[in-house]
Amino acid sequence: MKSRTFLVLIAGLAFVSFVALSETGTEKSGEDLKGAYGYDEFDRPESCRQCHTGIYYQWKQSMMAQAYTHHWDEIEYFDLAVEHAKRDPDFKDAVDGCNGCHAPLAYMAGDVPPPRPEKKPRANESVSCEVCHNISGYDESKLYNYSYYMDPGEVKYGTRGGNQSSIHKSQKAPHIQSAKFCANCHNEKSPFGADVKSTYTEWKNGPYSDEGVQCQVCHMPAAPGVRSITEGKEYDDVRQHLFHGAHVPAKTNGAIDVLVQPSRFEYEPADKAVFTVQLFNQKAGHKIPTGSVEDRLLYLHVEATDANGKTYHLKVDKKGFEGEEYTIASDDAKAYQDFKDMMDVPEDFDGLPRDGVPEGDRIFRMPYFTKEGIMTICQWNTAKLGVDYRIGPRETKVETFSWYVPDEVAEGTLKVRAQLRYKLLVKPVADFLDVPEDESKDRTINTGETEVEIYY
Ligand code: HEC
Ligand code: HEC
Ligand code: HEC
Ligand code: HEC
Ligand code: HEC
Repeated sequence: MKSRTFLVLIAGLAFVSFVALSETGTEKSGEDLKGAYGYDEFDRPESCRQCHTGIYYQWKQSMMAQAYTHHWDEIEYFDLAVEHAKRDPDFKDAVDGCNGCHAPLAYMAGDVPPPRPEKKPRANESVSCEVCHNISGYDESKLYNYSYYMDPGEVKYGTRGGNQSSIHKSQKAPHIQSAKFCANCHNEKSPFGADVKSTYTEWKNGPYSDEGVQCQVCHMPAAPGVRSITEGKEYDDVRQHLFHGAHVPAKTNGAIDVLVQPSRFEYEPADKAVFTVQLFNQKAGHKIPTGSVEDRLLYLHVEATDANGKTYHLKVDKKGFEGEEYTIASDDAKAYQDFKDMMDVPEDFDGLPRDGVPEGDRIFRMPYFTKEGIMTICQWNTAKLGVDYRIGPRETKVETFSWYVPDEVAEGTLKVRAQLRYKLLVKPVADFLDVPEDESKDRTINTGETEVEIYY
């Protein structure tokens, strides 16, 4: 009897001390981070600037420093997501969770939704120095939805250790050099369990992970220089905080090689000409597009120009796979009807044009669908994913364009031009929500050209 009471007591004590330990905070991640730490436990990025000057100015220009304040983020968060959660409280946790990645300090302070950016809240610090350099590890069983462990305080987790700094301690922490570190925020699951961001998984399943090329290699390149002006020491390989991605045209330019070749070198009117276009993802460690796949529009536009300068638009040949209709631009298809659950729309609102690019162009995308089967750009409202027709790392996609040479084509040289174009956000959506034009204007990723002769 006595010994049993003792055992129960020991078990009870062990339980109490376990609870106490986990409440010290170092093991909190994901939704447990909400409200777990105060703003004043984190320094402002400007306090790091005086010593880590170069790194600060790199970071400041990156999307990391604008994850809360950037125009489209503000519009989508406040005008769609927050409004949606007001109308349907089932979405409240997911919409608070936007901040777990975009404004981690606000999430950890329980200040959700945070004030608008114009009020200058600390949410504006976005993904700041302190967010990344206080991450002490992550929940390896998850690796999505802010699954990082946070350990605010004077220890900064880095890659070399050292004790030169008068202001903080440094701890050498290999976890920060792994792609898994990025997965905490670059893999996302919707409340319905759909994998609405999978950059890490795409990388993991591709060739670069086998070769040990982490995300940091391409997005935080190493360069000779100093990392702190007070330390002054020169290193061969200081990690640059560029985080260049889709918002930096130089990063997306040429990311995919485009080649076009004809089936013959000459044709006469009524002949069937076939132009084959090859698209090789030569630059990215993941699929293109990746990340905010629901927003992006990558499409192939092919035109032929005859000797008189007359231009003909060529439409892509169908391949016949399931869900292909979502990968061929259509003038009639509509989508995004779920906006009516989030905002006041005209009574007769029945969605927006799905694509807003020339009919018959090939679109490299993966459509997202609500539980009602509506195609959506709202990843929190996504219950299932459609066909995945994106271009994988080092993958080559091949498209053909069959064209019956029209009678009116001029004799002489016919030039065929394949243009791979890109928009950060589907244009009809951007126009409807008043998103500034830089988010929906066309960019050219690459162009391929060929010439054939037309004779009569
Ligand atoms: C007074 C100057 C000074 C300030 C301010 C400062 N640091 Fe440092 N930091 C250093 C020096 C010097 C080093 C180099 C080695 C060391 O830690 O002693 C360093 C190293 C680092 C490292 C690398 C650690 C490693 O293990 O490789 C990180 C990460 C870091 N600092 C983050 C920060 C952050 C975040 C802030 C702002 C909250 C900050 N530092 C503010 C001087 C400073
Ligand atoms: C998105 C996360 C992230 C943010 C934000 C971030 N860093 Fe880093 N930082 C890293 C990673 C990852 C490394 C190490 C990369 C590697 O070696 O693979 C690093 C390395 C460093 C180093 C060591 C560089 C070296 O080569 O020794 C310093 C110093 C540093 N960061 C300071 C800062 C400061 C200051 C800020 C804010 C202005 C900042 N970091 C913002 C992720 C981040
Ligand atoms: C705490 C969460 C968090 C971590 C950790 C994190 N990121 Fe990010 N990252 C974001 C958010 C949020 C954005 C989106 C900014 C925006 O457009 O709103 C972003 C943007 C980016 C972009 C720019 C994308 C564009 O559209 O131009 C790149 C590149 C990037 N991250 C790479 C990385 C890499 C590499 C790592 C790991 C070293 C990493 N991130 C770690 C949250 C994070
Ligand atoms: C071999 C180099 C390479 C590696 C490795 C790599 N990336 Fe990229 N990444 C690129 C290039 C090039 C682009 C620009 C093309 C594009 O948008 O996909 C890019 C774009 C991005 C974007 C912007 C996508 C968008 O549409 O906004 C994000 C975010 C990103 N990478 C994160 C990561 C993360 C996280 C990892 C690791 C899991 C990683 N990258 C690994 C080269 C790389
Ligand atoms: C698991 C982390 C995570 C969560 C949760 C998250 N995001 Fe993001 N978000 C990111 C990352 C990382 C990017 C950058 C990906 C890329 O560049 O393609 C991003 C990009 C975006 C962009 C595109 C920015 C641009 O300029 O193209 C918008 C808008 C956005 N998020 C809004 C939201 C909203 C609203 C929510 C909540 C409903 C949310 N995010 C939840 C990580 C997250």
